[in-house]
Amino acid sequence: MNTLKDIDIKNKNVIIRCDFNVPMEDNVIKDNSKIVKSIKTLKYLVDNNCRVVILSHFGRIKSEEDKEKNTLRYVGQELSNLLQREVKFVNKCMGEKVKEFVYSCNKGDVILLENTRFMDYPEKLESSNNLELARFWASLGEIFINDAFGSMHRAHASTAGICKFLPSAIGFLVEDELNHLNILVKDTPHPFCVFMGGAKVDDKLPIIKSLLDRCDYLLLGGGIANSFLKAKGANVGLSVATNDEAILSELNELMNKYKGKIILPIDFTIDDGIIYDIGSKSIEMYKKYIMDSEIIFVNGTCGKFEDDRFTEGTKGLFEALKMSNKKVIVGGGDTVSAVSKFGYENSFYYLSSGGGATLEYIADGTLKALEWMK
Ligand code: 3PG
Repeated sequence: MNTLKDIDIKNKNVIIRCDFNVPMEDNVIKDNSKIVKSIKTLKYLVDNNCRVVILSHFGRIKSEEDKEKNTLRYVGQELSNLLQREVKFVNKCMGEKVKEFVYSCNKGDVILLENTRFMDYPEKLESSNNLELARFWASLGEIFINDAFGSMHRAHASTAGICKFLPSAIGFLVEDELNHLNILVKDTPHPFCVFMGGAKVDDKLPIIKSLLDRCDYLLLGGGIANSFLKAKGANVGLSVATNDEAILSELNELMNKYKGKIILPIDFTIDDGIIYDIGSKSIEMYKKYIMDSEIIFVNGTCGKFEDDRFTEGTKGLFEALKMSNKKVIVGGGDTVSAVSKFGYENSFYYLSSGGGATLEYIADGTLKALEWMK
């Protein structure tokens, strides 16, 4: 797999896949960190006099109405501010007109095509990795750069198929992610502690299993902790937890197999019988495991941190991690948002820009889109 510096990029026509799937409300970007992180590669391409065509997805497109809500237009404006140069936004991502426009642009121009997932309706072409679509995008340049770390667990036309038609390389953002996350893939220092939180255990079960084999402590919070408690027979009422009997019995098996490794919270913030956060005694207990560890990977939060009444656990966890001065790696969109919301963005060793991609890389040591580059 090539990195950007391995290839001669000067004066080339480059297609770059970015992950500009940023949180947005009423056309206002709520967190631009993914765009900020992609600037280094984009500046390098511009400085090397490349014609730069950017591809990105935004949200999920299942209807014509979804297209109106999921335009990349506002991302283009933010990108232009950050790059301090014009970004030519094209309100389509496929067709002869797009090709004509791109070919009419000059070296040094930056062009952002509309959301690649517009090609998912009416026919699911982007997400099914349609090779004709990939061939079209490849026809817009001579080199493909994948800098969309957060999307690389998807084998889609713009992340995977396109590699079949062009020489390709990863960009600086992806290289930086892999360099930082590799320590969680091999030669991980011990004791290795993992904190897992968030709502859904079902999605995270494969990574939980993979990490249980490799970590020394798995501390739990959020709906994931509730699900383990429920599997143990605790009454969690209507709190967020899985109802899937097969998963509950699998969680039980894991608790038997990894006795002493899976650590559950011991007190909670409860409202109307529903668990919304973990309590201060749990955080005190988690602190001891953190202090005993060499490295800690954090994915998920302790509770419903978006609600001011339920922030204590998540804030307490971040404070304990900061005070420990240990190597802390944080992954997951919501987790990183919580880190920023509570002012801990400069307190940890590394904040990953990926969600599902970070988890897949740590679990499998590779990513679907990386495999397509080989
Ligand atoms: C993300 O925000 O996690 C990535 O952009 C991936 O988005 P997706 O889950 O819609 O593929």
